[in-house]
Amino acid sequence: MSLRILRKQYWRHNLRRENLAEIGPNFPNQLFWSQTELIQIMSPPGTTVLELGCQNGKALHAAAIRFPGSKFLGVDISREAIAAAKALTSQKPTENVAWFAGDIFEFLKANTEPIHVLCSCATLIYFSEKELEQLLSVLRDRGLKALALCEVTARGQRSVKEHIYAHNYEAIIAKVFGKKNRGLNYSKTPFKYEPWESQNFEGAIHFFKVSATL
Ligand SMILES: C[S@@+](CC[C@H](N)C(=O)[O-])C[C@H]1O[C@@H](n2cnc3c(N)ncnc32)[C@H](O)[C@@H]1O
Repeated sequence: MSLRILRKQYWRHNLRRENLAEIGPNFPNQLFWSQTELIQIMSPPGTTVLELGCQNGKALHAAAIRFPGSKFLGVDISREAIAAAKALTSQKPTENVAWFAGDIFEFLKANTEPIHVLCSCATLIYFSEKELEQLLSVLRDRGLKALALCEVTARGQRSVKEHIYAHNYEAIIAKVFGKKNRGLNYSKTPFKYEPWESQNFEGAIHFFKVSATL
């Protein structure tokens, strides 16, 4: 069985219920969603924001309520997670958010609308470089303008832990969107997060503004 299928099965079936209840106080997720750059890129009316690995949808739901002129799409492979997100939306309805339970590539096949912003927190680490390039190529062709990623890069050696990918996001984005995007409108906010630190990862929030120049 391929590693990708194993990883999908893990998230589909084994995401623990207690993880769904709340985003822990120390988890970088909260830091991520409060960043000014993220707020600036998702707030202009007419913007469509996709969150990959939205889990219980709390952060995206809050953003949808805060920015009623933008549209928010939350995708997570865990059905339980998306059920929690839907329950949240029925408690506090907002029409500008939609949820999808499934793999991101299944979502992108089923939904062909433009996507302007990609957000992900602690999720692209489970995608191989090839999968990440595929994902970004599809999004480039859908009109992607910005990426906000709260992910890890490797400190020292590249392969820090088996099956967790500490990508060089600058290089991959330059490859997919064209060389002119390397370092263009890129900002990085490093932070310390003990579980990642101890595995020799460097945690950081990365913002990219891109335009296809291939
Ligand atoms: C470590 S959790 C992070 C959740 C959330 N972003 C946060 O910061 O709290 C990774 C999430 O990505 C989801 N995920 C993993 N692989 C996925 C895929 N191929 N497509 C969609 N979601 C995926 C998992 O189900 C899980 O909810």
